[in-house]
Amino acid sequence: MKQIVVNGRGPLYGDVTVSGSKNAALPIIFSCILINGISEIDNLPDIGDVRVALDLLRSFGAVIERRGSLTLIDTRRLSYVKPDENLVEKIRASTYLIGSCLSRFGICQLMSFGGCNFSLRPIDMHINASRSLGANVDDKLITCPRLRGAEINFDKPSVGATVNGILLAASAKGQTIIRGCAVEPHIDALIDFLNSAGASISRCGREIVIDGRELHGGKIKVIGDMIEAGSYLALGIMTGGRIRTYNSPISDMTSVIDSLRSLGADVVLENDSISASLKFGNYLRLTALPHPGFPTDLQPIFAPLMAGNMGGEICDTVWESRFGYLNSLSSFGVKSSVKGNLATIYKSDIHTASAVCPDLRGGMACLMCALSVRGQSEIYSAETILRGYEDLENKLTAVGADIKIENY
Ligand code: UD1
Repeated sequence: MKQIVVNGRGPLYGDVTVSGSKNAALPIIFSCILINGISEIDNLPDIGDVRVALDLLRSFGAVIERRGSLTLIDTRRLSYVKPDENLVEKIRASTYLIGSCLSRFGICQLMSFGGCNFSLRPIDMHINASRSLGANVDDKLITCPRLRGAEINFDKPSVGATVNGILLAASAKGQTIIRGCAVEPHIDALIDFLNSAGASISRCGREIVIDGRELHGGKIKVIGDMIEAGSYLALGIMTGGRIRTYNSPISDMTSVIDSLRSLGADVVLENDSISASLKFGNYLRLTALPHPGFPTDLQPIFAPLMAGNMGGEICDTVWESRFGYLNSLSSFGVKSSVKGNLATIYKSDIHTASAVCPDLRGGMACLMCALSVRGQSEIYSAETILRGYEDLENKLTAVGADIKIENY
């Protein structure tokens, strides 16, 4: 287990280079299972979730090699084995085994898929998509010797189910049309990667058309992580300083930038860099929505910002109950109340504390509180934060933070 010991010492100033996007990297890694060849992935973040995903690929026989910023994934000689449950239950993206294993091996075991436990996380849409392409679901086993193109109609946008729909259809026989798909930037990144591997996939609005093809090795550079960029921008403001994020996917971050400005921040955009500091504090009302709306993964990061300024409200329309992290923030003095999917965050006096990391983004929110006040705080179970933030200790030290990540 890891703990982060923070010695808060005032405003943080400086530059951070944003790493490759976690939620773009994971579908790309799992999609390599479909491919008979060697793929080249640039800018893969070195984070906990990616390491687990690569270990799952290795268990099927993939050979993985790092060469500088490139990761080479050789998936020419794969065979199906029951995935290691300890790995599967660590990350949510292990649900992508459904589409990728059915496509390559015609079989997939249903297991206890992991990830942050902030809400019920059903997989009915994933299962129904595989049934549409001809799969047979029998208790804990899905099988289908040959997937056939079909129409999939989602009645709400799901990132995971859209990824699985693409993975199921990319090398199925015939054409698949997915309607009502998610349009997060990581969906387009997956499409770009698979097209580079010989797939025929196009997206227009919330409709994706896929003609099944045989796939060979693909190439891609993973896009910058908008959630990491948003986290560092919020952290700079929270401490009363100013952090500039390079390699930021600015065009995907309109809703985040607008929300920072509504909070009262001065936000400067230049090429791929964003910097933000607070000019004046406003009460902020946020609604988390599917892309291009404000991302649900950043609502926990904005809660301490509201508490440290004039307060605010968060309505999360994506997850039914993603406010468990507010219990941990209350250790730092953040006052809030929750009614259904609406949280009210009150202007609060934030102080040092010891807290257990509640989940990935909630853990980052605790760290923001700790860094914004003078004195020592501890965050336990910090490996959860490291699942999604690359090189956290060095990036924070570079902007003036005094933190140490230790084993306990
Ligand atoms: C992904 C992200 C997660 C983010 C979420 C929403 C990864 C690894 N995780 O999670 O960080 O918070 O998108 O942007 O990329 N739903 C169903 N049935 C299903 C699937 C989903 O009802 O079969 C519902 C969920 O309960 C939720 C909504 O759809 O209310 C959106 O979930 P989804 O987009 O699928 O989230 P994930 O892909 O799990």
